[in-house]
Amino acid sequence: MNVGVLYSRVRIEEKLLFDELKQRGVEFGRIDDREFVFELGESVFQYDVVLERSINHSRALYGLKLLGDAGITTVNTYAVADTCGNKILTSSALSRDGVPSPRTLIAFTPESALQAIEEVGYPAVLKPAVGSWGRLLSLVSDRYAAEAILEHKEVLGSYHHSIFYVQEYVPKPGRDIRSFVVGDDCICAIYRYSDHWITNTARGGDAENCPVTDEIAERSVSAARAVGGGVVAVDLLESERGLLVNEVNYTMEFRNSIETTGVNIPARIVEYLLQQGERAGKNAA
Ligand SMILES: Nc1ncnc2c1ncn2[C@@H]1O[C@H](COP(=O)(O)OP(=O)(O)O)[C@@H](O)[C@H]1O
Ligand SMILES: [Mg+2]
Repeated sequence: MNVGVLYSRVRIEEKLLFDELKQRGVEFGRIDDREFVFELGESVFQYDVVLERSINHSRALYGLKLLGDAGITTVNTYAVADTCGNKILTSSALSRDGVPSPRTLIAFTPESALQAIEEVGYPAVLKPAVGSWGRLLSLVSDRYAAEAILEHKEVLGSYHHSIFYVQEYVPKPGRDIRSFVVGDDCICAIYRYSDHWITNTARGGDAENCPVTDEIAERSVSAARAVGGGVVAVDLLESERGLLVNEVNYTMEFRNSIETTGVNIPARIVEYLLQQGERAGKNAA
């Protein structure tokens, strides 16, 4: 089987994935997205399956589209990356499939965004549709803050900030839950603790093992299915209404979660990748 990995930089995650492939004796090609030039109509790559590990959302998205259109199976698919990379598309997919999530309103102008913020009440959460690592999220405490943030976005923001994603603030018990889904299985989860309302480990949140309850497994797998399945990480918020799915991530980081959970996450990813590769090979034969 011909396996490829599309990546930007070999971080800890990519190194662990490469080691896992090597341990199984799987030969694999490295596609560095800083060097990758793809000529349309030419079959440059002979891979059965490619694992996408780009850091940059645009590179991941176009890379997956080009590979997919060239008939190569990818983990994840372009459609999954497209949906997960955009909070509006993700929330819409979750809502369509009835997966419980925080109340979310989308507005197209600063004026209607202010109305939406007043509608969910203070404090309200405002997020860029495309973004990660907790960047540019706002917890809007009152109307003056709302007006100031919306004015800043309008005057200083790029095109990405001209669409407004407004959410109810879900009071958390000082933590949220990050679960990992591979195919149909929720393989493990961590609590992310922080004194800050933004609990991303990239912003200093502390990780602790979180036993996978039936509710965590059910919510996580239905969230993964709603966005198209594959290998994803799901952010869950504990609320009075039970677990709410906050977002789904498609090129997840997992370095802080292997020892914490005792689950060999890269091994599970590689197993899934090889299954997808085998399936692709059979379909082609
Ligand atoms: N509606 C919300 N209520 C409470 N906390 C939230 C809400 N939205 C986000 N957070 C906190 O902020 C973190 C980052 O938000 P998220 O939507 O996952 O953005 P990112 O893509 O940047 O990770 C979450 O893990 C959670 O701790
Ligand atoms: Mg997140």
